Amino acid sequence: MADTDAVKEAKKFYEDIPMETPGFFLKGAGSLDWGMKNRLSRIFNPQTGRTVMLAIDHGYFQGPTTGLERVDLTIVPLMPMADALMLTRGILRTTVPPSLTKPIVMRSSGGPSILKELSNEELAVDIEDAIRMNVSAVTLQVFIGGKYETRSVHNMTRLIDMGMRYGIPTMAVTAVGKAMTRDAQYLRLACRICAELGAQIVKTYYCPEGFETVTASCPVPIVMAGGKKLPELEALTMAYNAISRGAAGVDMGRNIFQSEAPKAMMEAVHNVVHKNLKPAEAYDLYQTLKNKTSQKTPSRA
Ligand code: R5P
Repeated sequence: MADTDAVKEAKKFYEDIPMETPGFFLKGAGSLDWGMKNRLSRIFNPQTGRTVMLAIDHGYFQGPTTGLERVDLTIVPLMPMADALMLTRGILRTTVPPSLTKPIVMRSSGGPSILKELSNEELAVDIEDAIRMNVSAVTLQVFIGGKYETRSVHNMTRLIDMGMRYGIPTMAVTAVGKAMTRDAQYLRLACRICAELGAQIVKTYYCPEGFETVTASCPVPIVMAGGKKLPELEALTMAYNAISRGAAGVDMGRNIFQSEAPKAMMEAVHNVVHKNLKPAEAYDLYQTLKNKTSQKTPSRA
């Protein structure tokens, strides 16, 4: 191995010096074509350079996940509050009103279910169909260190090539296997590989130690993945810490739609991401909104 643990102490990330972004507000995007920049500007707010993406694509490998059993009833009402939506084409076409103009980040990989080896994915959406659905980005899992690492990296490079052809950015999601440690060393490796091979956005997990080195060493925007449901204050603190340490937004699912008050949580996360609201204040906001909002079981009547 060219670069191992033994030399890690010598690395310099210059975390306190943000990378310059000549010609465009987003890291690493200055040389992209107009269409690509325009789509990125729909996902990331050009005023803040950040995004709150709502991830609801879980069904593509784990079926009707808790909170997503009825997307029409519980999730569609939340959609207007998100900056962007990460979902599958099945949910888009069956359940999302086409009058909703939120940017779509289309899940474009799939194959194995939770019953099988998850890294054994293939591309699952054709670029023509992505264009037909007017998506703002395509996305897939990349399993660095996983059993089918090379296949997933090759899926990513093919998707990036197709996206480049039509001006559609690719968001690579660094999938961390159960046996792997989500530490800064691993996340730096995974994120940098995705960016080096052409991904325009990388989604990755937060780690308490050294997350700023993950964002500093990745030349494209990183959005923080939410992960399993946490108590609301912890989730807001994680989002705040990720943003303060260089993330360009969040892509959260369960920590929003499994919250007792998903709309209140969306609003609190929005304030953390776009207005740098501190975790305790964001939690107060969450509580206030939660108490104001009816928590009735959804119904059509
Ligand atoms: C990753 O495996 C998928 O994209 C997930 O469905 C999604 O990103 C997970 O979101 P969260 O971990 O915030 O529930």
